Amino acid sequence: MSLATFFDRYLPPLETEMRAIVRTADPRYAGLFGMLRYHMGWADAAFNPCQARTGKRVRPVLCLLACETCGGSWEQALPAAAAIELLHNFSLIHDDIEDRDETRRGRLTVWALWGDAQAINAGDALLALANLALLRLSERKVPATTVVAAIRLFNHACLALTGGQYLDIGFESQESVSIADYLVMVEGKTAALVACACEMGALIAAASDTQRKHLRSFGHHLGLAFQMRDDILGIWGDPNATGKPVGADIARRKKSLPILHGLERSAELRALLAQKTLSAADIHRAVELLGETNSREYAEQLAREHHTRALAALVEANPQGPAAQALHELAQTLLNRER
Ligand code: IPE
Ligand code: IPE
Ligand code: MG
Ligand code: MG
Repeated sequence: MSLATFFDRYLPPLETEMRAIVRTADPRYAGLFGMLRYHMGWADAAFNPCQARTGKRVRPVLCLLACETCGGSWEQALPAAAAIELLHNFSLIHDDIEDRDETRRGRLTVWALWGDAQAINAGDALLALANLALLRLSERKVPATTVVAAIRLFNHACLALTGGQYLDIGFESQESVSIADYLVMVEGKTAALVACACEMGALIAAASDTQRKHLRSFGHHLGLAFQMRDDILGIWGDPNATGKPVGADIARRKKSLPILHGLERSAELRALLAQKTLSAADIHRAVELLGETNSREYAEQLAREHHTRALAALVEANPQGPAAQALHELAQTLLNRER
């Protein structure tokens, strides 16, 4: 069974689960939930239903595949998968405020449409809803002790994510950031939630501690490689495919992996990024310099290394059934993704 078959099977009930969580009967808060439905791709900016581009839903699918491959029931894990995707989307609403990004998934961001203050409220609401989503595990006969463990795992991931975001913002104005610093930051902002998604699936399947540990490690390395690919796409990606503008990371002096690598090797790049303001020509020159320092190749190499480590951890986890093959396939797809 191919990966596409799993996506086709999981996504409709996942979407139904998330829509059941992100709703209100109170007309006074129609606008608050409207912002959330807009961000999720279910509504337009006037809050009318529409079919806009949604996220790739990578994390919930990882969670459901991990559950299935450990012998669990993916239907039982649906509320956890939904919670993880909602947490991810909360982090994106706040991330776009923090990064001042006006475009995501090819549309205006929540803050660009409704301002920072209301976007903060939208993100806060989504975070609370994500936590409430986990309680729905009980309705699917997940034991109470497992639900508590799931809530703990989930909030630890959220805390790690926020820590990573804190470092990411701090690094913008920090002159020297090492690769080791970068890895700590990315472990927090991205890998922690991907690792949580994989471990969560194993937890709900009541897998052994060893299997849980290896699936977590799979998610950790996959998450690192995923962010490295994101860093590459942020400079060399096609904005029509990524739905995000290129050059934004350079303009914001993000310490993304290619930029870090280039900064260590080019005095001209260091001088350029030390300027107060950057013109379009400056950003163009910065990309040229990153080409000269082979910074893209460096980032691709490190992403491949973590991809390889992820696959090794997956083998250790001894995954079973067709979901095991799908996990391999998903890891491969993510390494080469264009969006
Ligand atoms: C974007 O994540 C943020 C990162 C951690 C790189 P995704 O690329 O999974 O975003 P969507 O949900 O598919 O848009
Ligand atoms: C990714 O943030 C991590 C989180 C949102 C928590 P980035 O700022 O690196 O990702 P994009 O490029 O905006 O999606
Ligand atoms: Mg960010
Ligand atoms: Mg961002």
